Amino acid sequence: MLDEQAKKTMLRKIPHGLYICGVKEGDELNGFTASWVMQCSFKPPLVVNCVKNDSGSHEMIKKTGVFSLSFLDSSQKEVAAKFFQPKSRVGDKLADVEFYEGEATGCPIISDSLGYVECKVVGSVEEGDHTVFVGEVIASGIHREGDPLLLESTGWQYGG
Ligand SMILES: Cc1cc2nc3c(=O)[nH]c(=O)nc-3n(C[C@H](O)[C@H](O)[C@H](O)COP(=O)(O)O)c2cc1C
Repeated sequence: MLDEQAKKTMLRKIPHGLYICGVKEGDELNGFTASWVMQCSFKPPLVVNCVKNDSGSHEMIKKTGVFSLSFLDSSQKEVAAKFFQPKSRVGDKLADVEFYEGEATGCPIISDSLGYVECKVVGSVEEGDHTVFVGEVIASGIHREGDPLLLESTGWQYGG
């Protein structure tokens, strides 16, 4: 029998960074706070990005097959807090944030982040309440030096 409490405690010990996943469909741009992200191949360079099925961004990635990941630095908890609210409720999250559109995908990239990757979806697994998008890294850039923002440092939980 599954020990619910043990499962939650252990799964919450998986370390995570915090990113803004940028999405674009036609003229519409959006971004959301993502933590379930990791590299899964050297050659070709692949990452997995697990996206909540009922989020606005999920629909957009599914349709367009592209996304970006901006890497937040340890002082950018407020940026992460802004982007974990759904666009359907708070409107344009990018309105007062400096960003530019990535040259490979057009997806928004946070200008003041540590850097970014742009990805093309090459596979997906639709199980449970998140879809695992496998993205090939087709462009990348460094903005500046710094330490990454870690979920553990924020006191928030996303997992269990
Ligand atoms: C700490 C934290 C981590 C999160 N990590 C993820 C994640 O890895 N994948 C995901 O789909 N949503 C994640 N979310 C939730 C999304 O940020 C949230 O559903 C967002 O409102 C989606 O925005 P949208 O509907 O505008 O696309 C996280 C939320 C928090 C607070």
